[in-house]
Amino acid sequence: MKKVVAIGGSNSKKSINKTLATYVAQQVNDTEVIVADLNDFNLPLYGIDEETDNGIPSEAHRLNDLIESADGLVVSLAEHNGSYAAVFKSAFDWLSRIDKYVWKQKPMLLMATSPGGRGGATVLQAAKTSFPHLGGNIIADFSLPKFHGNFSEDGIADDDLSKDLKQKIQLFQDAI
Ligand SMILES: Cc1cc2nc3c(=O)[nH]c(=O)nc-3n(C[C@H](O)[C@H](O)[C@H](O)COP(=O)(O)O)c2cc1C
Repeated sequence: MKKVVAIGGSNSKKSINKTLATYVAQQVNDTEVIVADLNDFNLPLYGIDEETDNGIPSEAHRLNDLIESADGLVVSLAEHNGSYAAVFKSAFDWLSRIDKYVWKQKPMLLMATSPGGRGGATVLQAAKTSFPHLGGNIIADFSLPKFHGNFSEDGIADDDLSKDLKQKIQLFQDAI
């Protein structure tokens, strides 16, 4: 059975991105889904002095090992002021100190969602630009606007968005 690691780029206990990433990973057939909740990784804020003084934390290695063990990654990014949420950026920076190729060429379904109408499009674009330089193998990307109106555990309310997401899940499934 293939292993898919779902990551929400947020530390909100009620993260809509963790919810979306988990839901989408569960739609992939015949896979074991592991949810990597960034709250479960006890990482200090990345800084060069922290790294020099105390080294790379074992929790960063644990997250790196989890990515290494995956056949595919479903990542959904929270957008804070047009960019990554601080918790994600810090974890990402730690990971990049272990391995420049953070995402290790694992097939990735990259997403973002927000309560607003742009669905995290700005952070999604930032990640689409940056991740390929860091071992990212983005098979498909998807932005879900107006999360609270569009999402339920029964699926995506908007027909066009629902169809689009299903096609992207299929592409991801074929790649892992
Ligand atoms: C500091 C801060 C900045 C935010 N900036 C944006 C933004 O630039 N674009 C956006 O669509 N939503 C923005 N939001 C709203 C988030 O999309 C919303 O909080 C969402 O739930 C975050 O995803 P999460 O639930 O996975 O953490 C912001 C929220 C916070 C707290």
